[in-house]
Amino acid sequence: MTTQAMPTVAARVAGAVKVYGTGDTAVRALDGVDVSFAAGRFTAIMGPSGSGKSTLMHCAAGLDTLTSGAAYIGDTELGGLDDRRLTRLRRDRIGFVFQAFNLVPTLTVAENITLPLDLAGARGEPAWIETLIDVVGLRDRLAHRPSELSGGQQQRVAVARALAGQPDVVFADEPTGNLDSRSGQEVLGLLGHAVHTLGRTVVMVTHDPVAAAHADEVVFLADGRLVDRMPAPSAERVLDRMKHLDAPGTGAVQAAGGTLEARS
Ligand SMILES: Nc1ncnc2c1ncn2[C@@H]1O[C@H](COP(=O)(O)OP(=O)(O)O)[C@@H](O)[C@H]1O
Ligand SMILES: [Mg+2]
Repeated sequence: MTTQAMPTVAARVAGAVKVYGTGDTAVRALDGVDVSFAAGRFTAIMGPSGSGKSTLMHCAAGLDTLTSGAAYIGDTELGGLDDRRLTRLRRDRIGFVFQAFNLVPTLTVAENITLPLDLAGARGEPAWIETLIDVVGLRDRLAHRPSELSGGQQQRVAVARALAGQPDVVFADEPTGNLDSRSGQEVLGLLGHAVHTLGRTVVMVTHDPVAAAHADEVVFLADGRLVDRMPAPSAERVLDRMKHLDAPGTGAVQAAGGTLEARS
């Protein structure tokens, strides 16, 4: 027996297959993925465009359903839940951050942050909300509307909103995709702080090696399969790994060769 406890798993998928469409036009977006996301860790999902990153996140978070296999939040298998229970699980146990911020334009910053709690009829923990407001640095913007904020500020509101209910896991899909690099760094710093100081769990989809380097671990997808994991990533090593994923010896390389041949 080892004395080291197994890390608690916040979310996982097992044998995850997702097929979009049928017949000739069917796309196998996930082709048998097994991956778990440890609680209290910041994990990045990396891979080329179209490799299945968003699909994996959406299925792991109960926003979409698997064709076969299973997705779990903690010990709860999502496929076993009816719509009402699934909605409640997403509301109570998962936070979301999207590339496009998705704030409600008619609500103030303060109202946007507590919206998930208000919808749930929950009060939340006032001290936690106060902490979040300070952590995201928006105390002097609480009465503002999203249109009065920069993109980076809007995404910081979205991060606070995702954390407001103290969810088991926050899923973020390309959260820096619409931001300049400085605002992006702020948002990434915030997600890291949420994990390393506030003890939350974050799973972030990105195709940016610099963003992925903020995570504790990177998992790599290619063609709907999990192909590698990298603990303690650096942007350089992630970039290097990605170069090999982008040139799998088929598509990109052959196409490039074909172009050269055609020109010579
Ligand atoms: N709703 C959908 N209908 C049909 N095909 C889809 C749908 N969503 C994604 N796909 C396809 O599934 C594959 C994986 O997509 P996605 O998970 O969005 O990749 P990524 O986020 O890594 O760019 C791609 O080939 C994409 O075109
Ligand atoms: Mg995507």
